[in-house]
Amino acid sequence: MRGDGETELAESTVGSGTERAESTVGPETERAESTMNSRTEPAGSTMNSRTEPAGSHVDSRMEPPESAAGPEWWARAVVYQVYVRSFADSDGDGVGDLAGVRSRLGYLELLGVDAVWLSPVYPSPGVDHGYDVSDPRDVDPLFGTLDDFDGLLADARRHGIRVIIDLVPNHTSDQHEWFRAAVSAAPGSPERARYHFRGGAAPPNNWQSVFGGPAWTRVAPDDEWYLHLFAPGQPDLNWAHAEVREDLEKTLRFWCDRGVDGVRIDVAHGLAKAEGLPDDRRQPGWTVLTEDAPDPRFDQDGVHEVHRLIRGVLDRYPGRMAIGEVIVRDDARWAAYVRPDELHLAFHFGLLNCAFAADEIRECIDRTLAAAGDTPAVWTIANHDNPHPVTRYGSLERARAMALVTLALPGSAYLYNGEELGLPDVDLPDSALQDPAWQLSDGVRRGRDGCRVPLPWEGEGPGYGFTTGEPWLPMPESYGELTAADQLEDPVSTLSLYRQALELRKEHPAFRGDEVEWFGAPEGCLAFRRVGTTLVCALNTSERPVPLPPGDVLLTSAPLEANGDLPPNTAAWLA
Ligand code: GLC
Repeated sequence: MRGDGETELAESTVGSGTERAESTVGPETERAESTMNSRTEPAGSTMNSRTEPAGSHVDSRMEPPESAAGPEWWARAVVYQVYVRSFADSDGDGVGDLAGVRSRLGYLELLGVDAVWLSPVYPSPGVDHGYDVSDPRDVDPLFGTLDDFDGLLADARRHGIRVIIDLVPNHTSDQHEWFRAAVSAAPGSPERARYHFRGGAAPPNNWQSVFGGPAWTRVAPDDEWYLHLFAPGQPDLNWAHAEVREDLEKTLRFWCDRGVDGVRIDVAHGLAKAEGLPDDRRQPGWTVLTEDAPDPRFDQDGVHEVHRLIRGVLDRYPGRMAIGEVIVRDDARWAAYVRPDELHLAFHFGLLNCAFAADEIRECIDRTLAAAGDTPAVWTIANHDNPHPVTRYGSLERARAMALVTLALPGSAYLYNGEELGLPDVDLPDSALQDPAWQLSDGVRRGRDGCRVPLPWEGEGPGYGFTTGEPWLPMPESYGELTAADQLEDPVSTLSLYRQALELRKEHPAFRGDEVEWFGAPEGCLAFRRVGTTLVCALNTSERPVPLPPGDVLLTSAPLEANGDLPPNTAAWLA
């Protein structure tokens, strides 16, 4: 488990999730009661069900972008996040690469995902493992070449898998040619105008970096300060500058012309800063998600111009999409990012911040759907910035149950590599830690390395089929019990559960309908149906078994009780 400091990091990535999750576990009787009584169905000791005829949705997966049949592919897609350096290493240097991803496309097809989202593979000094980009239109030799990228794209198509790349518009690396030119140029020069440079004896304002410490660093002892909301190696771009906007358009066209299907926008709530860079007047420790006063660093109105620009470019490439990492303080502001002329989708992160508590999960689902409105909702319980679900929820059973909840919901679902193997976080020794959020921290925070340990594919350590060399983060022996090869053979493995869930989600007619209808459920439980269909998902977060609603059981995250009841820490799909 992570220490308290995770909260500060979470501010940048998913809000104060960990802290909130830990502090709110446990019954919230009042809210639970009103929740259960708020539906027409009677609450009670069983979950109640109704049946309606199933529909006949046909998935639009891999249809040509021009196709008018059904919703766009991204509206219901299951997208698998490949953290490239941890996925598969083809050349034995201990770091995953594009050829490694290419070699495992068969696995991803077998798993049944519609698309992959690749973490950044651009040339980068790797201060933030690729989120510090020195050239957004090339590939770092560590990961391969542009030819490897094209080859991966072509192979992915053959496997029926679309490809989304990660764009990092808020900042560059300090090794980007623009920043290097800025450092060599004089204060007030045009070279410095693309970033936020300011003079003075003290930092220009009190802003804190998301990773810890002041958000300002001097380029040299007597020189100006520059702004970096993340690591010092990630200077923030000045989005008021025309060249910055033009360069992003060029980058988007570069990758769209190569054939990528979409872009994930890193820190989509960043980019624009409050006019005049005023001091942050909020309480120390307040996070972007939890307080009422605006954060001058994030979610400024000017950001929407950038998202309109992105949309303008993508609209010229039919079938392409943008999904934003959007972390803001209220749902109305969040919804602005997915207006019709802005991003197609945005992560809401509600579910990622929920404890394993039925009433809280239900509230998260309602909030996320309400915020999304007519836009497809995006569900995720894992990414490269947060502890794996097994660790966050406290057990594999709970993580498996939450996988079924997530995959039953309308909209699209984003999985994080290793989630399908039920990997727990690894408690790494200090000497192995690499995350800047750890390097810059006060020594209490553990950073995000624990969820980035490479995937065990098969065989023995130290590389477990991930690499023939030494993995960039040490893989524990316990990962040897969780290899993909072993799990493929085991019908009750977590991998088999995900495969079955994805297949049902794709093939079964009950998986349609964009709304959720709640059933009455005993305390600590929830059950919902996709409106207009027969699909019911039931979850038991309480400590005792409960009767299931009527219906044919399609899939459960653990065996049912002998009498057919749903055990604690378990979810079931019925139709
Ligand atoms: C996003 C990424 C995170 C990165 C940060 C700075 O939150 O998900 O990994 O550290 O942006 O680019």
